[in-house]
Amino acid sequence: MASILVLNGPNLNMLGTREPGIYGAATLADVEQDCTAAAAELGCQVAFFQSNFEGALVDAIQGAMGVHDGIVFNAGAYTHTSIALHDAIGATGLPVIELHISNVYARESFRHKSMLARACVGVIAGLGTAGYPLAVRAMLTHLQGTS
Ligand code: DQA
Repeated sequence: MASILVLNGPNLNMLGTREPGIYGAATLADVEQDCTAAAAELGCQVAFFQSNFEGALVDAIQGAMGVHDGIVFNAGAYTHTSIALHDAIGATGLPVIELHISNVYARESFRHKSMLARACVGVIAGLGTAGYPLAVRAMLTHLQGTS
């Protein structure tokens, strides 16, 4: 059974109270519940990790090798700055879907650039927290196409 890691970066532990006009009312626990329900329906496994620390996210990506088959990754603001996270994705060779709750392209120009996107199989942005279970589904479809 395929296993997908849903990885969240800085400030995403604040979902539900953080700028709800942009990120919605769902908490990270709600997101986990939605992904778990989607995974049960799809017949795959999901695991979750969140950190506010860039190095911990690098460790999580490295640690996914041989444990998970793909990663759904909302790197938060590190999306726009982190060569280390880009390189970690490349180093593991695991397929990664970059995810954003908000439509980063409709926001400040500093959010228009992703350091990660070119290392990812695809990007989901702007669909709210509903994007997470969609990304789980998309990753499973990707994995089924490559196995
Ligand atoms: C985000 C968008 C980023 O620009 C921002 O820094 C975040 C959340 C999103 O999910 O929309 O922390 O990744």
